[in-house]
Amino acid sequence: MSQYDVIVIGGGPAGYPAAIRAAQNKLKVACIDEWQNKDGSYAFGGTCLNAGCIPSKALLESSELFHRTQHEFAVHGIKVANVEVDVPTMQKRRATIVKQSTAGISSLFKAAGVTPLQGHGKLLSGNRVEFTGKDGKKEELTAKHIILAAGSIPTELKSLPFDGEQVIDSWGALELQAVPKRLGVIGAGVIGLELGSVWKRLGAEVVVLEALDTFLPMADGAVSKEALKQFKKQGLDIRLGAKVSGADKSKGGVKLKYSDANGEQTLEVDKVIVAIGRRPYTKDLLGEGTGVEVDERGFVKVDHECRTSAANVWAVGDLVRGPMLAHKGKEEGVVVADLIAGKYGEVNYKVIPSVIYTAPEIAWVGQTEEEVKKSGRAYKVGSFPFAAAGRARAMEATAGFVKVVSATDDDEILGIHIIGPMAGELIAEAVLAMEYSASTEDLQRTIHAHPTLSEALHEAALAADKIAIDFP
Ligand code: NAI
Repeated sequence: MSQYDVIVIGGGPAGYPAAIRAAQNKLKVACIDEWQNKDGSYAFGGTCLNAGCIPSKALLESSELFHRTQHEFAVHGIKVANVEVDVPTMQKRRATIVKQSTAGISSLFKAAGVTPLQGHGKLLSGNRVEFTGKDGKKEELTAKHIILAAGSIPTELKSLPFDGEQVIDSWGALELQAVPKRLGVIGAGVIGLELGSVWKRLGAEVVVLEALDTFLPMADGAVSKEALKQFKKQGLDIRLGAKVSGADKSKGGVKLKYSDANGEQTLEVDKVIVAIGRRPYTKDLLGEGTGVEVDERGFVKVDHECRTSAANVWAVGDLVRGPMLAHKGKEEGVVVADLIAGKYGEVNYKVIPSVIYTAPEIAWVGQTEEEVKKSGRAYKVGSFPFAAAGRARAMEATAGFVKVVSATDDDEILGIHIIGPMAGELIAEAVLAMEYSASTEDLQRTIHAHPTLSEALHEAALAADKIAIDFP
């Protein structure tokens, strides 16, 4: 029987960093992962690297470049003719980037001294793990600590189950080999918007059906409003208050049935992406009598330090409460590995950035204006449009703004919201400021290089006290 200090079940963005940090802490570590690609090959990296964050960003980049040739080049005085999309080549590039990224984890494991175990891991009682290898052979392993990091899977619409052809999940949508003529997307959440934009930019007619009446309810109200305006301008047909109830499938396509304020409706598409959320993946993860409790929604119950209800069993990432974000899972994994080694560790759940990788990008950290208003705390708001930033104008990327929400009493920054060019990169400064409890004045007194997009954040902080220089 192999014995370890730490066994991590799951090698995605929460699990693999936990394994590496535990090894850095001089512990004997194994990381088990069962991810199999569609060609049957095994790979570390989980959804994020294989079928989520990384491949979607590869396609976002390609589709954005194509879009620019059509809609932006002319204004720069660059004439292009007969620009065509070659989807198989685009997909080859996406696959290469994924392979480089997942191979990178294997190298990192080797360098750190983590034992990689490819196959299925199941928690048993008494600090034991059952490992089923690629060949189906079962082996029992023991560890002083076990970290569950099995991630999440797409939620299926009961009335329209995935078939991998016409009804696809986000993974299927990343591997299409041709641009569908008519694409339906169910759910105007993060995945629906990111993937809907990709295929729209590549030429598909995209209709997004969203059950809620409000668009992006988790974002700041002004940001959601601007986002909806921009996406509609790009030709994304977003229908709010549209609840999908079923569909008729035929060789010719899928006839979606949905209801909205005007009653029953139908929509005919060639393919449909179902992106109505994800749920924790606990299939065959917990054996009899482990003592690990799961809540009514399927999440593994943990305390604020990711301890489950079983001694020395921890759980991190999409498997537990909190936002389903790779960077949140990574931080939890690293913190748990440090706590196991007796070191200090803490996740600051109040300062987790959110990014939606559309064009324009959307990013925020902290509270929205609506949340602050509801809390009753007196606040001030400063906004600065990218149209007033020289660098954004030079980039031909003037849509959007930065908005800073701060407390009136002690000047604390409560939330920063960005929609615009490179919002996902710009938010890092906001995160750092909030992590260090910076005041609005701290941001105001920080010198920002000119001409950069980051000046918009600086000016928004100044605007919170009505002292912006570059905007009235
Ligand atoms: P989501 O929860 O963001 O959005 C799902 C949407 O589907 C909701 O707005 C919901 O109202 C709608 N919906 C549900 N049932 C429906 C129905 N029958 N008809 C019409 N609309 C319906 O979930 P999504 O986009 O699938 O993403 C899953 C998770 O992955 C999220 O937690 C997200 O944060 C995470 N993710 C994060 C990314 C990022 O950080 N950039 C990228 C991709 C995913």
